[in-house]
Amino acid sequence: MKKVITYGTYDLLHEGHINLLKRAKALGDYLIVGLSTDEFNVLKHKEPFLPYKQRKIVLNAIKYVDEVISEENWEQKVLDIKKHNVDVFVMGNDWEGKFNELKNYCEVVYLQRTPIVSTTGLKRNIIDKIEK
Ligand code: CTP
Repeated sequence: MKKVITYGTYDLLHEGHINLLKRAKALGDYLIVGLSTDEFNVLKHKEPFLPYKQRKIVLNAIKYVDEVISEENWEQKVLDIKKHNVDVFVMGNDWEGKFNELKNYCEVVYLQRTPIVSTTGLKRNIIDKIEK
């Protein structure tokens, strides 16, 4: 079985997330998502609208996602790849080149981001609507 792993915050799930997860799953048979914890998001200077527990429930309901694990720090990726016998590491191309050292352990793929949509953009739209 070919295992694929990807990481992210996946707050306010949108089309770009679904496209990424669909294409990541298509690279293998089993997709693991490393979901950033609330504490790790503080380190990444991200403030998700939904807490980890709720983001995890939503991700687990997606048909392309087979398993959700917690992403707690920058260093765990090699350990996760070894522990779960991962064959392919996938990220959107906003991370292009950032994880090339993982090529020592598995295939590394950067997928084209879906244009325009982002959680940051969604949050801005919501705020604009409320302020109108
Ligand atoms: N992603 C994508 N296309 C988008 C938005 C996100 O392919 N339009 C991918 C990212 O490249 C990443 C994964 O989805 O691999 C999770 O991204 P995340 O950072 O959680 O979502 P963003 O919408 O980029 O969030 P933010 O605006 O807070 O950065």
